[in-house]
Amino acid sequence: MTHTPDQTKDTRPNTRKVHIKTYGCQMNVYDSERMMESLTGLGFEVSAEAEGADLVILNTCHIREKASDKVYSELGRLREAQTRKAETGGRMMLAVAGCVAQAEGDEILNRAPQVDLVFGPQTYHRLPEMLAKAEREAGAQQVETDFPAEDKFDHLPQDRAVDGVTAFLTIQEGCDKFCTFCVVPYTRGSEQSRPVAAILNEARNLTAKGVREVTLLGQNVNAYHGIGPDGREWGLGRLVRALADIDGLARIRYTTSHPRDMDDDLIRAHAEVPALMPYLHLPVQSGSDRILAAMNRKHTADDFRRIVDKLRDGRPDLALSSDFITGFPGETDQDFADTLKLVREVGFAASFSFKYSARPGTPASGMVDAVPDAVKSDRLQALQQLLDAQQEAFNLSCIGKRLPILIEKPGRHPGQMVGRSPYLQPVHVDGSADLVGHVHEADIESLQSYSLFGTLVSNRDSTERACA
Ligand code: 5AD
Ligand code: SF4
Repeated sequence: MTHTPDQTKDTRPNTRKVHIKTYGCQMNVYDSERMMESLTGLGFEVSAEAEGADLVILNTCHIREKASDKVYSELGRLREAQTRKAETGGRMMLAVAGCVAQAEGDEILNRAPQVDLVFGPQTYHRLPEMLAKAEREAGAQQVETDFPAEDKFDHLPQDRAVDGVTAFLTIQEGCDKFCTFCVVPYTRGSEQSRPVAAILNEARNLTAKGVREVTLLGQNVNAYHGIGPDGREWGLGRLVRALADIDGLARIRYTTSHPRDMDDDLIRAHAEVPALMPYLHLPVQSGSDRILAAMNRKHTADDFRRIVDKLRDGRPDLALSSDFITGFPGETDQDFADTLKLVREVGFAASFSFKYSARPGTPASGMVDAVPDAVKSDRLQALQQLLDAQQEAFNLSCIGKRLPILIEKPGRHPGQMVGRSPYLQPVHVDGSADLVGHVHEADIESLQSYSLFGTLVSNRDSTERACA
């Protein structure tokens, strides 16, 4: 028997396919997973590629110019896939989600009229409803970029599918810091923290499904101030301690932090909670006080140094990663030299560095005294050279140490397993698949590009130890 496309849709709803392409930060990865869960609940199957899918969602990033340019080129490419789908009698709905959707709204439809849905990060819970409307009314484009008053977190699916032994867990959204270069306060809205009970509940559910490590997510995660079961606001340090009490949860991480929100309780948690990994992503952006002030960072280079010193006093094996911007408007050679000086003094195990790009609507985009692109590039190259050398030196310093490894999955070769060190380095060891989900100590023997190789020292679950 043959089906017309319409009959197929009506009688076999389970065969619809969705492809989600995710750009940008871990928050977007998390959001895409949640969208996928609500769509599989509607009978969609995940498709690894856009070709032939009934729904393609681009979950976009607007943080830097290049990130949003990529979205428009992908939309151009998808036009052809849409045409091929239409030629077979089908329809490929196209949705743009995430921060480009939030920032550009209707403008996306002007530039890419084949898009059906545009929706910002605050409206994901309305996806099933928007989709039903788009399916009913082909050609009726919808743009949803409100910041609704209702609590977005209430709509997260309660029962998460779990893939592997590590998981992200959103605890906070949005940012009130308004760094002058940054679009996040405009695309993600103001800070909101999830209540403690909801987070502990989700963490317990994840742990029951085999998760051993959670990474707490938020655009400004250490500004966390959720309501606790006692009716008072809890900070991140207190939340971390409560999470560490969950049986089976071996490792806790959090990202991304702001130096201003590294309060003493959180710093103490680094010294006192073994499950809190000694690896912290703490963006500094610049080492020049003049530039930090123009960026509205509200901290100085010395504030940053002091925070690092306090963290290392309590946890000497703590390693840091950071974000840097070169060529912010008005940045002089001296300002840049101050950045290099800070990098040399602090020492970073890994880092992300970017050329400044003006983002529409941000205060810095109106600043005069732009730095020529060639200068931005030269500075970026010099900074990256230094940061790469520090990363390599850090990785090499792990050789000869005994590190606890959370075994995650089989490696590329038979009999090999891959896990992560406390510092997120991949570590390859010989071992069997039943080790997955266990923390084992390994003697680190060599480094190949960014991966460590070592030998397991025991078959017992180890307690996390410092790698001094
Ligand atoms: N130009 C360059 N880099 C930027 N970032 C954010 N906005 C911009 C911009 N306009 C960088 C910051 C931030 C990271 C996520 O992206 O370093 O910490
Ligand atoms: Fe953007 Fe981070 Fe500054 Fe917030 S704290 S405005 S997210 S750079």
